[in-house]
Amino acid sequence: MNDAAQKPSSESPSRNEADRVLIFDTTLRDGEQSPGAAMTLEDKLKVAAVLDEMGIDIIEAGFPISSNGDFEAVCEIAKIVKNSVVCGLSRSSFADIDRAGEAVKFAKRPRIHTFISTSPVHRKWKLQMDAEQVIAAAGASVARARNYTDNVEWSAEDATRTERDVLLRCCEIAIKQGATTINIPDTVGYSVPEEYYALIKMLRETVPGGDKVVWSTHCHNDLGMAVANSLAGVRAGARQIECTINGLGERAGNAALEEIVMAMKVRNDVLPYWTDVDATHFTRASKLVASVSAFPVQYNKAIVGRNAFAHESGIHQDGMLKNTETYEIMTPESVGLSKSTLSLGKLSGRAAFRDKLKQLGYEHLGDNAFQDAFRRFKDLADKKKLVFDEDIEALVDQEVATQTNRIKVIALEVVAGTGGPQKAKITLEVDGRNETREATGDGPVDATFKAIKAIVPHEARLPLYQVMAVTEGTDAQAEVMVRLEEDGRQVTGRGSDTDTMVASARAYVVALNKLMMKRQRGPAAQMMVS
Ligand code: KIV
Ligand code: ZN
Repeated sequence: MNDAAQKPSSESPSRNEADRVLIFDTTLRDGEQSPGAAMTLEDKLKVAAVLDEMGIDIIEAGFPISSNGDFEAVCEIAKIVKNSVVCGLSRSSFADIDRAGEAVKFAKRPRIHTFISTSPVHRKWKLQMDAEQVIAAAGASVARARNYTDNVEWSAEDATRTERDVLLRCCEIAIKQGATTINIPDTVGYSVPEEYYALIKMLRETVPGGDKVVWSTHCHNDLGMAVANSLAGVRAGARQIECTINGLGERAGNAALEEIVMAMKVRNDVLPYWTDVDATHFTRASKLVASVSAFPVQYNKAIVGRNAFAHESGIHQDGMLKNTETYEIMTPESVGLSKSTLSLGKLSGRAAFRDKLKQLGYEHLGDNAFQDAFRRFKDLADKKKLVFDEDIEALVDQEVATQTNRIKVIALEVVAGTGGPQKAKITLEVDGRNETREATGDGPVDATFKAIKAIVPHEARLPLYQVMAVTEGTDAQAEVMVRLEEDGRQVTGRGSDTDTMVASARAYVVALNKLMMKRQRGPAAQMMVS
């Protein structure tokens, strides 16, 4: 087995500066644009801190002009990030660029990423601009961005479907105006590795000044080739890859960061490139992003899926017992995965609980959240024989998500079973006052949600209701995800409890709180890009 898979990146064999690939994470911008994946400011700060700690080179923190919330998120992330470059996205209009410049100015190392669509179909239907106008706008936007920082990235949206001569001229003018990174997005995930390789190679070799800038890949996964295309781009000379944790992103998502980094580590013999990313943070980052975005990771997802290191069949298990290299090309530890550990018991006190939280990365929990989490842990330990680390993570995440909420679940009673009608009686705290309502419904979940709606009337649709188990066994906690949609805005809430109905009520209420926050922030931006 290639040694690189076993060791932290600092010990990787190939460390030639020319082979270094910069990792640009866009989980908080392109990833967050997935319908329903909206994150709160607190969520974003947590994700940014993990990205910074794992050695991500550039964090795209948001799209500042798209909403006040995004602007604030970019400002706050810029303030807390210690090492990574913090980047804000903007279209080519000066108002966009100025807003991005305002937001990233707090960063130690700011970057503005400005883009315009270049393909004929986008020019005609999206921009109503001809090629000459697009070329001029590309140059002007970079020049404007250079007023704020000398770290300017320019992107050609839908580059892979753009006429080569137009793309070439856009890149040339962007470089002339001072862009330091040129990004070639496969916006609709249309390309194939050979074609993408040839495109990057041609641009690098032909565009005047192309040898002075960093070429970047940004591949979407509509045909399942985002990672392969990104790596093909690197073989052709690109030295920045734009990607997201868990491959989060609109439609089929973006190239998955963890797959890209591990491919270069494990197959360093054929992909002799390196990054500064510490892969032992992947499992934690994946869980965090899945939790705050409420986008579960598919079980058989490479690197971070729950089955990625599971061996079920007898033949495989036998091989694994003799030598793990029989069926594992990298160790679980190399991506930060350790066996489910028994956590604490019902006799554990506050000090042990605080210690465990520290180990799990929750050292910054505020005092109220800590006290509430400790109380819930005691309740859980009473109900559940074995409390695992995952249980603690689920309940702490729940506390963090609900601390500042205006609506909270206080009590729930449900009548379920074959007889019907199923009923629910719920008490919610709304802005400090308790209110109770009863409802019948088509099943206990329907009854519970109707009772909530009777207290907090709203017209939101429920496009997603999903239940998963946090650990194994019939006493496992249920983790429920609820997505609500209102006026084109989608929000997702997560709730956990050993009682599936309580978890469902909590998830629904978390989503309702997010919806109320969104209403306050005003209309969602109609300017999402992929
Ligand atoms: O997919 C895309 O083209 C984008 C650009 C804004 C970089 O996300
Ligand atoms: Zn994109």
